[in-house]
Amino acid sequence: MTFLEAIEKRISRRSYLDTPIDTEKLIKIKEAIDKYNAVSGLSIQFVEDGSRAFQGFGKSYGMFSGVRSFIALVGKTSDPDLYEKAGYYGELLVLEATTLRLGTCFVGGTYDKQRCPCSLMDDETLTCVVTIGNVEDTPGYKERMIRRMTHIRKVRLDNLYEADQEVPSWFLDGVRAVQAAPSAVNRHPVKISYKSGKIAAYVDNTKDSDLMDLGIAKANFEIAAGGRFEYGNHGEFTRS
Ligand SMILES: Cc1cc2nc3c(=O)[nH]c(=O)nc-3n(C[C@H](O)[C@H](O)[C@H](O)COP(=O)(O)O)c2cc1C
Repeated sequence: MTFLEAIEKRISRRSYLDTPIDTEKLIKIKEAIDKYNAVSGLSIQFVEDGSRAFQGFGKSYGMFSGVRSFIALVGKTSDPDLYEKAGYYGELLVLEATTLRLGTCFVGGTYDKQRCPCSLMDDETLTCVVTIGNVEDTPGYKERMIRRMTHIRKVRLDNLYEADQEVPSWFLDGVRAVQAAPSAVNRHPVKISYKSGKIAAYVDNTKDSDLMDLGIAKANFEIAAGGRFEYGNHGEFTRS
């Protein structure tokens, strides 16, 4: 499965099976984490058993079951692009996991941060976690109900971009990949603009979760359209 196919296939999964992740898959995920930490300056950590952060009805509100492992998206508090990077590299890890047929879900709120067994230096922040593990091929009844609650509607394609000219098909491919991306509370705050021949991605509100969504959207757009964004709100895209 390619990353583009993974973008189309991925949905957030919240019910995990009680079986360990295969060693080969684990090695691939950990290698990807090391690679992304080296290029981003983040300190992403694989937490083998973080089940305590999801146990009981506390912060998980019973939405998740069987969570054991997760990826903790950690970085320097002083990094001006911390939340965008966490979204960007978190999404690349989500897609890697999807190609390995593992289930994932970004979790910013519904877990107990205090019970997350990751190691944080004084100058670091835990932005969010990504649950990861074996799942049934198709979501069961409970998962489908929770998905219905958290995923009320599919965002319309024309709400995701604005343009002052007719857009090429590769641009629309990129926007479709943004449409398929995970976003906090399924709000899809990111817009891709195509104006005066320049492409940029932006959010109106620069709160932490919107900046994470910005990084996630940029990753998906890049994969589908082929190219790179620069960091930052209104960061420009260059096609490769
Ligand atoms: C930054 C971020 C934070 C999220 N936080 C939570 C969360 O706390 N709890 C949860 O159940 N889902 C969370 N999600 C998952 C979203 O609810 C989900 O991506 C959205 O509803 C779209 O559904 P999909 O991922 O299945 O396409 C989060 C997603 C993102 C991108």
